[in-house]
Amino acid sequence: MLQVENIHTYYGDSHILHGVSMEVKERSLSVILGRNGMGKTTSIRSIIGFTPPRHGKIVFQGNEIQQLPSYKIAKSGIGLSPQGRGIFPNLTVKENLTLAARSCSGSGWTLEKVYELFPRLKERGLSMGGNLSGGEQQMLSICRALMTNPDLLLLDEPSEGLSPIMVQEVANIISRLKKEGLSILMVEQNIAMALKVADRVYILSKGQVVFEGTPDDLRNNTEVKVQYLGTGH
Ligand SMILES: Nc1ncnc2c1ncn2[C@@H]1O[C@H](COP(=O)(O)OP(=O)(O)O)[C@@H](O)[C@H]1O
Ligand SMILES: [Mg+2]
Repeated sequence: MLQVENIHTYYGDSHILHGVSMEVKERSLSVILGRNGMGKTTSIRSIIGFTPPRHGKIVFQGNEIQQLPSYKIAKSGIGLSPQGRGIFPNLTVKENLTLAARSCSGSGWTLEKVYELFPRLKERGLSMGGNLSGGEQQMLSICRALMTNPDLLLLDEPSEGLSPIMVQEVANIISRLKKEGLSILMVEQNIAMALKVADRVYILSKGQVVFEGTPDDLRNNTEVKVQYLGTGH
């Protein structure tokens, strides 16, 4: 589905990503872990074209996309739920969703289908985005990305700022989306949640991939967890 090959990304003169490579297979979930400031969001921004890489390749469904403008990348089938959620606080839930709607041959997400899968959003349909709870806002952010009918979903820290119960709820949602056939690249700080839903794990440190493996590979590697994630658990 997606291959990121040896990308180098800069903000001005600051060289942030130093040859990052990662992959998302069809109908699977890859997760990017790592401490703050290590380049996780920059990797997402590189893929969606907000901060295109200066070197390296990004191949999506067989086509190189690293030189395309963001709107074309999005239109080619990549949806984004950004860090901090990025919903419109002064629009209703329904307005947030319909504004993003884009028909596409793909997975066929409509307002009806989103409401069916997320009845909580239907109940809150006429509430302002800004009046939702953190968990509901996260749900809305994910659903807004779904309304663009993507084949690949980019999720940047979906559990950020949520209570443990809501983190579990978001994990359930993500598992469900995988079952619906989506491919997902997710950034997470919540390691336990990430390892529950991931098929492939990457750890970034100072703009480089320092670990790649399965969730079990990481569970069994205390040294890597302590060194790069600051936890032995
Ligand atoms: N717009 C920006 N301009 C300059 N530097 C930035 C910008 N955004 C992020 N950075 C720097 O890039 C590095 C990686 O940031 P980021 O990708 O946001 O990290 P993460 O998502 O892993 O916390 C950090 O050192 C951060 O300070
Ligand atoms: Mg980030």
